[in-house]
Amino acid sequence: MKVLVIGQGGREHALCWKLKQSPKVTQVFCAPGNAGTALEGTNVDIKATDSVRLVKFAQTEKIGLVVVGPEVSLVAGVTDAMEAAGIPVFGPSLIAAELEGSKVFMKELLRKHAIPSAEFSVFENSEAAENYVNDREECRLVVKADGLCAGKGVVVCGSKTEAIDAIRRIMRAREFGDAGKRIVIEERLDGQEASVLAFVDGNTIIPLETAQDHKAAYDDDRGPNTGGMGAYSPAPLITPELMAQIEVQVLIPTVHAMKRAKRPFRGVLYAGLMITTQGPKVLEFNVRFGDPEAQPILMRLKSDLAEILLAAATGKLDTIPDLEWDPRPAVCVVMAAEGYPGDYPKGHEIRGLDEAAKLPDVKVFHAGTTTRAGKIVSDGGRVLGVTALGDSIANAKFKAYQAVKCIRWDGSWCRKDISNKAREDGPRLIQTAQRPVADGEGKPEGQETTLRRKPE
Ligand code: AMP
Ligand code: GLY
Repeated sequence: MKVLVIGQGGREHALCWKLKQSPKVTQVFCAPGNAGTALEGTNVDIKATDSVRLVKFAQTEKIGLVVVGPEVSLVAGVTDAMEAAGIPVFGPSLIAAELEGSKVFMKELLRKHAIPSAEFSVFENSEAAENYVNDREECRLVVKADGLCAGKGVVVCGSKTEAIDAIRRIMRAREFGDAGKRIVIEERLDGQEASVLAFVDGNTIIPLETAQDHKAAYDDDRGPNTGGMGAYSPAPLITPELMAQIEVQVLIPTVHAMKRAKRPFRGVLYAGLMITTQGPKVLEFNVRFGDPEAQPILMRLKSDLAEILLAAATGKLDTIPDLEWDPRPAVCVVMAAEGYPGDYPKGHEIRGLDEAAKLPDVKVFHAGTTTRAGKIVSDGGRVLGVTALGDSIANAKFKAYQAVKCIRWDGSWCRKDISNKAREDGPRLIQTAQRPVADGEGKPEGQETTLRRKPE
């Protein structure tokens, strides 16, 4: 089977690398890809949002499975276009991707089905939103643009002035364009953050090993937010008890709710959670693998990824063998360009990649890279995801940073504390009340929503 991966980041390099290992896969294509995906297969010069050309290419090459990486492709309707052409595709449809594409849709769905999340209100004009903030006693609020803003449309506020400023920037100045036509204002939650990802085929849910990213640019979680400066797997914060709670209170009811809303969900469901004293609450959903969470997770996956993704694409996740995981933890350190997450230069030659590749249990995933005159050069803000497996999180961290030391280009930098959080997160058990059953809940039409637990 030939596969086509759509996207060009570290996540897509990890997908290509893992898919290539499948005995079922004869050839891996990546559109548009980066210098790393070109080492695993063949890059195709088509934009990740150009549905028409992507479908044509998939038809000409008789692609047996298309894997959609980034959210921009999902909200551009690439999955629907592939489905319409009868090509098996892993990723949610346009209307299912709204779970990530619209915070208003997501929050209203959660409220309707009593899935735990922060209290919220929706506003369509700035004046009403400002009045709401002014009339409240509580000033710990979070202001969120409705649409996609590459992780930048969320402002966590500590005062009314900050909240009003955020409303004006999003709704009046339209800093994020039409994504700011509507906003959500929600209560600010306290706790530790955790992410849970699961493969979903519409009816069956298979949770993945846990992972956690580091969103802030600098050490000790300081500085501006980024797409993610590193990640580790597993996340010790998520104990088996907490995972069971998340499955029952979040994953199952969400997949069930999407089915009831006639937007059956297929793909990776990624729940960003705040673990509060009242239990896990949903901060956001992503409808795809996280980047860089995909890198350590896929490095630990021993099962055949092509088999899993094809089963998810065709509604057969109930038929595949239990997933197998490498018990060793993995750590991914992102190496970035000088200036990221602000403006950054491109085109610097990257040295030391061969040296790093020789280290055992290390894989250097490319993100913002390209090839020029036979040399690999930087071509983005997040340039590489240096990933290593180790006997412990500390050992995986040590190995990843050893590999980082081999690699250099003008202005390259990284956080030095990736995975330290894992050691600070003591396991804890959270007591919660029973989840109330909302009106209209009950059995969805058609098949049951089922969850396949990890075998003991
Ligand atoms: P989101 O894109 O909605 O996950 O928001 C991005 C980041 O903002 C999250 O990872 C949290 O750190 C923070 N955040 C979002 N919503 C809340 C909330 N209700 N309370 C506290 N922090 C939040
Ligand atoms: N690392 C977070 C994301 O992919 O959105």
